[in-house]
Amino acid sequence: MLVCGSGVAGLSAVVRLAEVPGLRVGVVTKADLSQSTTRWAQGGVAAVLGGDEDSTDLHLADTLAAGAGLCDADAVRVLVDEGPVRVSELIALGAVFDREAGGGLARAREGGHSTARVLHAGGVATGAEVERALVDAVAATATAVYERWFATDVLVEDGRCRGVVALDPHGVRRSLRASHVVLATGGAGQMFAVTTNPAEATGDGIAMALRAGVFVADMEFMQFHPTALHHPAMPRPLLSEALRGHGALLRDAAGERFVDELAARDLVSRAMADRMARDMVEHLWLDATGLEAFDRRFPTLAASLHDVGLDPAVDWLPIAPAAHYLSGGVVTDLDGATALPGLWAAGETACTGVHGANRLASNSLLEGMVFGARLTEAIEAGKVGPEPTGVFGAISSAEPEIPARFLAGFPAPGWGATLREHVSGAAGAALAAAPLDQAGLAKRREQLQRAMTEGAGVLRSTRSLAEAAAGVTDAVGEAFPPGSPAAGESARAVAEITNLSTVAAALLRSAEARTESRGCHARRDHPAADDTWRCRIVHGEQVEARTADPAGWPP
Ligand code: SIN
Repeated sequence: MLVCGSGVAGLSAVVRLAEVPGLRVGVVTKADLSQSTTRWAQGGVAAVLGGDEDSTDLHLADTLAAGAGLCDADAVRVLVDEGPVRVSELIALGAVFDREAGGGLARAREGGHSTARVLHAGGVATGAEVERALVDAVAATATAVYERWFATDVLVEDGRCRGVVALDPHGVRRSLRASHVVLATGGAGQMFAVTTNPAEATGDGIAMALRAGVFVADMEFMQFHPTALHHPAMPRPLLSEALRGHGALLRDAAGERFVDELAARDLVSRAMADRMARDMVEHLWLDATGLEAFDRRFPTLAASLHDVGLDPAVDWLPIAPAAHYLSGGVVTDLDGATALPGLWAAGETACTGVHGANRLASNSLLEGMVFGARLTEAIEAGKVGPEPTGVFGAISSAEPEIPARFLAGFPAPGWGATLREHVSGAAGAALAAAPLDQAGLAKRREQLQRAMTEGAGVLRSTRSLAEAAAGVTDAVGEAFPPGSPAAGESARAVAEITNLSTVAAALLRSAEARTESRGCHARRDHPAADDTWRCRIVHGEQVEARTADPAGWPP
């Protein structure tokens, strides 16, 4: 049994699987075990615990509202109902959350939440504490840890996943065989030049699924966090939404407020992008000068702001939206099973349906814990393939609540032909062979990121998306034909760029197809939501519509 990725979803699964008698568990991770996007998560974990005045129904309603009509209601019900137990288990494992003077867990409010329900650690260093607790727990098991191994492809034999192909720490291709594989490789924010995601977030699990012909959905819904510090550092330092929850204000260049600071994230980012375009400025301002005891409540943010010469007690903080979280991913059922028997997905890599068109703040760590646990229970119970539940059930059902539109023909290895569909003959003819040296590869990666930020950012149009596709194609060209001689560090860089271009192609195809604005997908040329687009865009061959009768399932 192999888990690819070491964030909250992957490690939540590992800790449990390691306790299953007779099961040998391995973790494959591109960097060190403790290095994952989870570590960077700030705000916290949204969960309704016993004794709260809040209710899971309210958490469900807030999540559905943020998701703009595309959440899978069953998946959200699972999330809010099972979340509190998983949080309690994490605390039992040793995670230390912030507490009030009286000893109760402290809660913050964030955008889109109708009440304060976000648990946090170290102020806004929640991800780092969650990751620490899970890494410590994994270290106490017999799990085989493959650090600096890079899973690049799924091994498929007789219609079942049998392991992965991976680059070892020297860049040499190897096969790792396993009875089950969990894709939990995190997100794909590195598609963009301006992102809060670490360098490892290159969409690897999603690209692996696309190449294996496994359903992937909701790729147009890249969430842009409104308040990333406008600063040359990359990834961009995040100024947690918890600041607005505590009363920080958004101001434009003239010092005017222009949006409800506690609206859902997609609405705030859109309003900011509009205001920046109107005023032709590169950033706006976060005014946290009115917050009491900033340094005590937000010690990590205070330290990083002081490091760049900003004092939040007196300075307005320059901010702009940055690519933050991919709401879509590999389609799963309610247990994390994908369309390919033996292959599972969890966390940001997965499309469980809990986020719909826009993730509610602080629901991501929760999703990782809940669905990481569910898939382990399913594997322990002997499950191998998907059932007609959750998003997987909906896209294969005869009468789904949210219908699916399929984009077929995503080619293996994935990126080239699809991107070329977007560009004119002239741009297509400009494709160039890439040098495989490190500097040349880094340049191509930056070019891809710039093209995506310019054309597929917060506000999009048919034209900007076509330009982004042309830019990505120019950046990548036909650099990496099958059998590419790249080895060592170059092999890893090539694999990352290939994955970035694969997920970028999927995002661009979905964004071009969706001629409306909904959640994180905002089109200048189609500014309103359109009910005919209350559907899920799925990459893969359309499956025959089925009833919910599980007999003979999976095919
Ligand atoms: C934040 O602290 O603003 C980020 C939390 C999240 O992405 O949900």
